[in-house]
Amino acid sequence: MSEPPSPGKRSFLRTALFVLAGAVASAITLGTGRFLFFSAGKQPRREFSSEVLGRLDFEMPLHVPEAGVWIVKRRGDGAVSCLDDRCTHLGCRFSWNAERKVFECPCHGSEFDIEGNVNRGPASRPLQRLSTADPENGKIRLIEKGSGGSG
Ligand code: FES
Repeated sequence: MSEPPSPGKRSFLRTALFVLAGAVASAITLGTGRFLFFSAGKQPRREFSSEVLGRLDFEMPLHVPEAGVWIVKRRGDGAVSCLDDRCTHLGCRFSWNAERKVFECPCHGSEFDIEGNVNRGPASRPLQRLSTADPENGKIRLIEKGSGGSG
């Protein structure tokens, strides 16, 4: 049979428990505050130089990795569309196959047409389209319409 802890030992354990609880609470508070106040501001601004538009050929998607986007100039009306460069399955970056005229994801084989529609899964949702704001200081800013993700 063991003896109950002495009052001095009990006091020490209680103090150690308070110190530990305080350290955990501080870590959670600081981590949450850092996430809330600083993480949103560190997101890279999604934009590209308006000079990029001059390099576009009809239906030859151009990758702008620093903005995380593929830019496509449609034949006919010359409209430009921007597609997020992350696959809607699990977020891998995909490439353009100029011979087959499809976007191919190297991770699990999804394919998308030039408009971003799913040709082959496992992705089930089209590529995310991004809107563009009017050029400002020679930069075109991208605006996300919805969220990507699994599926
Ligand atoms: S992440 Fe693209 S197919 Fe899975």
